[in-house]
Amino acid sequence: MATPALQLAKVSKDFGRIIALRNIDLTIQSGEVVSILGRNGAGKTTLLNIISGVAKPSSGKVLLFGTDPSDKLNKAKLAIISHEMFLYGNLTALENLEYYGSIYNIPDPGQRIANVLADVELTHRRFDLVATFSRGMTQRLTIARALLHEPSLLLLDEPFTGLDQHAIGMLLTLLNQQKKLGKTILLTTHDLHTAKELSERYIVLDKHGIIHDGSMKETTPDEIRKKYFSTIAAEQVA
Ligand SMILES: Nc1ncnc2c1ncn2[C@@H]1O[C@H](COP(=O)(O)OP(=O)(O)OP(=O)(O)O)[C@@H](O)[C@H]1O
Ligand SMILES: [Mg+2]
Repeated sequence: MATPALQLAKVSKDFGRIIALRNIDLTIQSGEVVSILGRNGAGKTTLLNIISGVAKPSSGKVLLFGTDPSDKLNKAKLAIISHEMFLYGNLTALENLEYYGSIYNIPDPGQRIANVLADVELTHRRFDLVATFSRGMTQRLTIARALLHEPSLLLLDEPFTGLDQHAIGMLLTLLNQQKKLGKTILLTTHDLHTAKELSERYIVLDKHGIIHDGSMKETTPDEIRKKYFSTIAAEQVA
């Protein structure tokens, strides 16, 4: 059997007295699209940070494509879209993408950059400084930056936040394209409708860990909502 995109075994993370993640066992195969649901403070962002290697687990084991998340080879396979934009305000949109193109050694970067700029409908603003962009435009450029090097695993932390209805549709189209290309997508969202539309599997996190892991296809929005509201308010410290 092929190596899973992601394997977590008994992963826990605490910040002093706060237990952000408890005993997470999770395997995600290449090509799966999985939504992570849960209330504020349930540990969703912490989980993505551990998967991307930004944070280390307090205990347990994480394997990304069969190796440690900090493995250099993994950097090129990974895209992260989060509230941290990883963009330079004093550079233009084009300069930002050229910079990331050089970091990732992208072949024919000019064409690839033109493509991703068109994908997020920012071609006409490519010579403008990112500092002058609106929030939604900055988020769209973040998406372009994340997809530039054609990653295999997309980690998306509330990627729809700040986008207008048009841009939400644009991102859904892009993610569906990525899905068709066989990419693995792991996203957090508070929008159950979008989660249902995009993913085949969903997990629900709360302070006890993963309290549900199942197929999205055979479930109704009502059932998802029920699972969601059965969680314990994660901010309550035991
Ligand atoms: N750097 C940190 N230092 C201390 N506590 C932290 C840190 N990062 C997260 N936490 C705590 O860990 C818990 C999980 O936080 P996390 O950001 O992962 O939640 P979340 O599910 O992403 O919530 P939201 O839906 O609000 O984004 C929270 O109680 C939070 O206060
Ligand atoms: Mg979060």
